[in-house]
Amino acid sequence: MDNQAAGGLAVEGVSVEFGGLLALDAVSLECRVGEVVGVIGPNGAGKTTLFNVVCGFVRPTSGRLVLNGRTLVHHRPHDLARLKVARTLQGVGLVPGLTILENVMLGAQSLLKADFLSALLGAWRSSQEETRCRRRSRALLDELGIGEFAGWYPGALPYGVQKRASLARALIADPALLLLDEPASGLSSDDMDELGGYLKSLSSRMGVLLVEHHMDLVMSTCDRLVVLNFGRVIAGGTPNEVSADPEVTRAYLGEEVRRVPDTEGPGPDA
Ligand SMILES: Nc1ncnc2c1ncn2[C@@H]1O[C@H](COP(=O)(O)OP(=O)(O)OP(=O)(O)O)[C@@H](O)[C@H]1O
Ligand SMILES: [Mg+2]
Repeated sequence: MDNQAAGGLAVEGVSVEFGGLLALDAVSLECRVGEVVGVIGPNGAGKTTLFNVVCGFVRPTSGRLVLNGRTLVHHRPHDLARLKVARTLQGVGLVPGLTILENVMLGAQSLLKADFLSALLGAWRSSQEETRCRRRSRALLDELGIGEFAGWYPGALPYGVQKRASLARALIADPALLLLDEPASGLSSDDMDELGGYLKSLSSRMGVLLVEHHMDLVMSTCDRLVVLNFGRVIAGGTPNEVSADPEVTRAYLGEEVRRVPDTEGPGPDA
């Protein structure tokens, strides 16, 4: 198994219990560099909990994580930059008192030798360090089409711009594994199309684990899907395989992909 996980993440039989609630029940999945893996499922299925386990915010009750062939033992959120793992939060999570550019630079703080707050006050260990980080942050903002907002504060900007900035903040650490928790929530359908293309392009240099409720985006962007329901993996496979799985339709996709039965019963318009 360790070999299979080389160059990516393997979640192996991970369970998480909150009080009496089994939020994850022996969940296994893999995400390798070069692929976008979607994690889908109804509200409360355990998707964010899964991310919290990978990021070291929540300790699994049982099971293990293997990253690039090595088992992670008691890792913590502050280890993520070193492990080359980055995530975006469900929502936005930008710091309101910092500009968009500063927020993106904040994503690099654990990579910097100088502490970020002192850095903001001008005490960077070297001016090259600051210049390099600033240049890279600006380039990412441009790449995401929001360069013009670098000097703005998040609260003054549309939600879609804030979402892109939070993606830039995750990318500044140059991750090998990127975890995205509902990156398309609140985006227009044009923004969503662009995001899908961008995520595909990112996967050439990293593994992308995508939690998302927008099925159009999931189906067009993901190489593989894992479906959670009540903390359990109920299906996995290509988007086509998963959308044809009756258990998935029952548990989650429901109305969206319901097919008219061949021989019996009324169709959806009846
Ligand atoms: N810290 C916690 N303490 C207790 N219960 C929790 C905690 N975090 C999550 N849960 C519970 O665990 C279950 C899984 O929650 P989780 O947030 O992972 O679901 P989700 O799939 O991300 O849902 P959504 O699609 O709504 O974001 C839910 O029943 C939730 O109430
Ligand atoms: Mg969630």
